[in-house]
Amino acid sequence: MRTVYINGNFVPENEATISVFDRGFLFADAVYEVTAVLGGKLVDFQGHLTRLRNSLSEISMVLDVDDETLLAAHRKLVEANGLDEGLIYLQVSRGAADRDFLFPETTVPSTLVMFTQKKNLIDSPVAQRGQYVILVDDERWSRRDIKTVQLLYPVLAKNLAKKEGADDAWMVEDGFITEGCSNNAYIVTKDGTLVTRHLSTDILPGITRSAVLKCAKDLQIKIEERPFTIEEIKSAQEAFSTSASGFVNPVVRIDDMKIGDGEPGPVAKRLREVYIQTSTEMAI
Ligand code: PDD
Repeated sequence: MRTVYINGNFVPENEATISVFDRGFLFADAVYEVTAVLGGKLVDFQGHLTRLRNSLSEISMVLDVDDETLLAAHRKLVEANGLDEGLIYLQVSRGAADRDFLFPETTVPSTLVMFTQKKNLIDSPVAQRGQYVILVDDERWSRRDIKTVQLLYPVLAKNLAKKEGADDAWMVEDGFITEGCSNNAYIVTKDGTLVTRHLSTDILPGITRSAVLKCAKDLQIKIEERPFTIEEIKSAQEAFSTSASGFVNPVVRIDDMKIGDGEPGPVAKRLREVYIQTSTEMAI
């Protein structure tokens, strides 16, 4: 049984526990390093430390543990596990707090875990025979259709929105809106057409989206499922988002663009009403 490190303590691996509310688990709101160990010594440790500090700073995460302590902890772990050759994995997450895309208050301590892994790094059969590699599309992270907890970017975008005094951020790719941080995005054109991005790997297929589109159809609203641009937002009559946590949620300003007359529009209001009514009736 290995000895692992968790928040300052060295414990047997079966005694190390992390909260189910840990943001590393819920949002992938975490960064990590892997340091090689050869002959019981850390390889390129300073480089790993520097990159860790950079990663932490890039996502505005605070780790209240200094470099000397981290080095000492690595060494103690190597010793406790009698590790001669292998790896040390270190992960820092933004700690445990009630689930919220916004960062928790700074009083929440980050979670720091480390463990060792024995591995033959030098005497490697693969390195001996050479690797077989296949080509795949680089989809990191282009699979937004999967409801993964890989939410770090939406978390950062949502926090940026908050900093700007806004409620949410809509994400743009090649000049087209994809979706909100945790919702699907829509506009209503001047001629009353509802436009929302078509389903693909570019967006999460919102459950609310599908139900709301059905409501719109029943209300005989013209629907176009296609990407829309920032230019189109400028001339839109209305905008709104949908999600399980926001239902139909009107948008009245996007960056410096006032949408319609700057008030929630009639289409969004009506859809919200109808959606809430029908979904309440059908709830099980
Ligand atoms: N978010 N797009 C993204 C990226 C989302 O995270 C969500 C949901 C939606 C809307 O999906 P639905 O209509 O099924 O709620 C679209 C939920 C609310 C969340 O993570 O909290």
